[in-house]
Amino acid sequence: MKINEEIKIFGFIGSPLQKRSNTYTLTKMMIDKLLEKNRAIEYSLFTAGDVNIQSCTGCWSCMTHGQCPLDKKDDMAFLKEEMMGSDLIIWGSPVYALHVSGQMKTFLDRLVNWYHTLRLAGKSGVTVSTTAGSGLEEVHQYLRLLLSVSGVKTIYSLDTIGTLPSTIVDPESAQKSADKAANEVYTFLNGEKRIESDKWLEYSFQKMKDKVMHKDALNADYEYWKEHEMLEMNSFKELLQKKL
Ligand SMILES: Cc1cc2nc3c(=O)[nH]c(=O)nc-3n(C[C@H](O)[C@H](O)[C@H](O)COP(=O)(O)O)c2cc1C
Repeated sequence: MKINEEIKIFGFIGSPLQKRSNTYTLTKMMIDKLLEKNRAIEYSLFTAGDVNIQSCTGCWSCMTHGQCPLDKKDDMAFLKEEMMGSDLIIWGSPVYALHVSGQMKTFLDRLVNWYHTLRLAGKSGVTVSTTAGSGLEEVHQYLRLLLSVSGVKTIYSLDTIGTLPSTIVDPESAQKSADKAANEVYTFLNGEKRIESDKWLEYSFQKMKDKVMHKDALNADYEYWKEHEMLEMNSFKELLQKKL
């Protein structure tokens, strides 16, 4: 990414438990390890319990007019601004009923026009989850897919076992996993490794280009592609070259 410039990390964890959330705690372990490597890293980390995010009302305004009416009423505009200004995007969720939590889904639903416009293209991503036993892969896969359609390259997926609030079952092994994640993630943050396109990002690019070109109801998304000279591009690789 960049060596002497400011590095900013954004994290959203779909748990209502604030600092008692196991998923938050695991994420914070990784961030603290990154901070040990570079004190200049800035981060903002929120759980669903820290912010007010209302459920999508299904009005289509984000896709037709480029504006979500709810953005004026809750914290989503702020969270979007934070994500736009960050280099690394962390999306985390506890496993609830074998999937992401309802709170995480509410957050993700509010970003639907970002998926049509690959709004976060050029950024790196990490998925985080905790579970009492099942559903980890379902959560990681889903979060990785939605990061891809946002244009974000997932560089790591981190998880551990957790049960009651503030109860990571094996904190020592969780710390080891978080340290390993931080070591890998830092190679991208310090510019040693560069993100590259992959089949999911290319699939997302082609799928979304096709969608905005052929659906009249997505006027605002189409305009975004036009304004950002993306309609002339033929691959995510081309978009990445422009962004990096
Ligand atoms: C409503 C609810 C649903 C859950 N569903 C599952 C599940 O399907 N499988 C599982 O192994 N654990 C399940 N769990 C356990 C959580 O995944 C686990 O406690 C996790 O660490 C909670 O993360 P948090 O502290 O970040 O909220 C569930 C917990 C709750 C509260």
